[in-house]
Amino acid sequence: MARVVRNILFRSSVFPSALLPPLKFNDLRLHGGCNFSISASINSKTRKNKVKKVEKSSHSNNSSVINQSKLSQVKRRTRSDKELDEETFLNKYGNDNSAHVPVLLGEVLDVFTSVTLRSFLDCTLGSAGHSSAIIRAHSEMQVYVGLDVDPIAHQLAQSQLKSIIDRNSFDTASALKVHTFLKNFKDVKSVLGEVEDDLLVCGVDGILMDLGMSSMQVNDAARGFSVLKNGPLDMRMNPKATLKAEDVLNSWPADEVGRVLREYGEESNWYSLQNRIVKARLHGGLHSTNELVDLIKNSTSRTKGRQGWIKTATRVFQALRIAVNDELKTLEDSIHASFESLSSGGRLAVISFHSLEDRIVKQAFLNIMNCSEVDRGGVEDEEGKHLRELRKINLDTVKEEAWVKQVIQGHNGTILTKRPITPSEKEETLNPRSRSAKLRVIQKS
Ligand SMILES: C[S@@+](CC[C@H](N)C(=O)[O-])C[C@H]1O[C@@H](n2cnc3c(N)ncnc32)[C@H](O)[C@@H]1O
Repeated sequence: MARVVRNILFRSSVFPSALLPPLKFNDLRLHGGCNFSISASINSKTRKNKVKKVEKSSHSNNSSVINQSKLSQVKRRTRSDKELDEETFLNKYGNDNSAHVPVLLGEVLDVFTSVTLRSFLDCTLGSAGHSSAIIRAHSEMQVYVGLDVDPIAHQLAQSQLKSIIDRNSFDTASALKVHTFLKNFKDVKSVLGEVEDDLLVCGVDGILMDLGMSSMQVNDAARGFSVLKNGPLDMRMNPKATLKAEDVLNSWPADEVGRVLREYGEESNWYSLQNRIVKARLHGGLHSTNELVDLIKNSTSRTKGRQGWIKTATRVFQALRIAVNDELKTLEDSIHASFESLSSGGRLAVISFHSLEDRIVKQAFLNIMNCSEVDRGGVEDEEGKHLRELRKINLDTVKEEAWVKQVIQGHNGTILTKRPITPSEKEETLNPRSRSAKLRVIQKS
């Protein structure tokens, strides 16, 4: 059969930029859980060395061994059993140390395999790693929408998508319309409305949120995200936003700084750090990541060595990033907005990178399930009966999918991951950045 190259329509919110609404501070949201201590090195040797080093240091003291074994027990229950082909992986990502490696890629593809993806929305484009693979796997796709709040990621993803689509030929002559937006995913509904009115009415068949930061962002010292690279205390996902990490450190009230460290960093040493940060204001404040790291080193017990201060610094950087980009509230609101934007039978997959994020995803999914009339003991009407039937059909189909282990059935949909899916051991070894990733999936009735 003659293969017909699909006719691609590219539309972007970036060009012309004059058409863009001005981005305000509140437009900027980042949900990142990337471990700052890990650079995005994807050289296989470096990866293996890093894993060995982590193992070595964790075996050097007893409490670490106990923690490690507890962790691996918990992880065993959630680990993906999907095979990862090491050779293919290294061929693809092994030679480029700066490339972003999509996390849990095979697992994400599995999530959408049984769904007819006429439309798909990627809320976190990054370098379009997940998106490219999903587009390739779904030749039925007619509308693709991708968002990123970071202009560098947006531009990179755009050219990546274009080249992927140009290179691929498909069996159908249908036109895939690709729309990319330099937007925050909290604006998901207005973005979909801008694409096509129908999309908001009928809903999107698949939505992905991959919350971590991209390797491009962590590797760029000038963005201020990395504990190990000196740069300005910036941490804005959206460079047009007004609030930077140095503003939080140098001008927020002391107890607000303490709250950020305590609540967003879950840092036990928050009070001492808060005092040191406020004291530093007397000498001109903190303006570079190195200055902040030095302050952390000086307030971390020396007996804990390098691992001690790196862990504290990672928590402090995470806390600041959450505050600067107002990540947690945005995440919660956006999960609800995304679920509402799904079509019947559509799926929302969320990858989180730290426990605060994962808690929000888990709770938001449960809240979505609970807000039903039937669950609250209301009287079931005709619509209720119809939905119940639909849920039964959905559930029967879902049971046939090997990756689905335990589900939670609700009025509005089904949580397909009672427990989150975490990367296989092999993925963790090949891409240490993936090790804190958790994938949760919900399907609309
Ligand atoms: C882990 S990367 C995504 C990588 C992507 N899945 C891939 O395979 O290349 C996360 C991306 O989400 C973007 N991001 C973070 N918070 C956002 C938000 N609130 N709205 C839109 N994009 C956001 C970041 O700028 C970053 O590029």
